[in-house]
Amino acid sequence: MLRASGPHCQRASCATPGAGDRCKRDWRTSMPYEVRPLLTSDLLEVTEIYNAACRARESTQGSRSWSIKEMNEFLLERRASFEAYTCVEKGSVVGWAAFTRLRGEDAEQTAEMSLFVQASFRRKGIGSALASTLLNRSNALNLHCIFAMAFKDMPHVVSFAERRCGFSIAGCLPEIFTHNGKHYDILVFERLIAPRSGDRVHRLR
Ligand SMILES: CC(C)(COP(=O)(O)OP(=O)(O)OC[C@H]1O[C@@H](n2cnc3c(N)ncnc32)[C@H](O)[C@@H]1OP(=O)(O)O)[C@@H](O)C(=O)NCCC(=O)NCCS
Repeated sequence: MLRASGPHCQRASCATPGAGDRCKRDWRTSMPYEVRPLLTSDLLEVTEIYNAACRARESTQGSRSWSIKEMNEFLLERRASFEAYTCVEKGSVVGWAAFTRLRGEDAEQTAEMSLFVQASFRRKGIGSALASTLLNRSNALNLHCIFAMAFKDMPHVVSFAERRCGFSIAGCLPEIFTHNGKHYDILVFERLIAPRSGDRVHRLR
């Protein structure tokens, strides 16, 4: 299991009065789902969701499918991710999100955010539930900078990143991604995390 000390059970988008965080339902479908820390046993489904997104040219990492071993290295082994969560519905993983580390010694407070929801489960609040669970952990993980990338020609993802994740566009990498002979722009998003009041802040004197 991932080294996670965050919320171990959170259901999303609740409209059930008084239900609290542990018993929530998506108001659009009344279908309960659970966001919980990613487990090693989730890796097969996590990889399948990722590979489907690759085939749809939705991953800025590339269009090549990954093996489970590569996903394991990315999330759990090589430079173990800060934290990762899955969304589970009726026992199946339908989405996942992770903060992963950047290379470089001076980027310890920086994480890249990855987020993928299985296509048939989109527009039900799952992406928002995963994003908020992960982003709400930023302070506890002592992160200062979260960044993410998305294709410029996917306005719903850009809107999701800005409205649901609080990201701002930090820049554009024109025509950096080539697929089937076409060149695509990638937007870089960033969100700086303000320390919570009470957290120690180091100031220059
Ligand atoms: C982006 C993504 C994670 C959103 O997941 P999701 O579960 O559909 O997200 P939600 O249901 O929480 O959607 C929240 C909002 O995102 C926007 N949105 C998401 N999908 C949309 C679509 N197809 N068309 C228009 N708006 C969309 C809407 O603003 C929506 O709010 P609304 O339903 O109140 O209008 C999902 O589309 C995905 O996995 N995309 C492929 C991978 C990717 O691009 N990851 C993000 C990298 S930052």
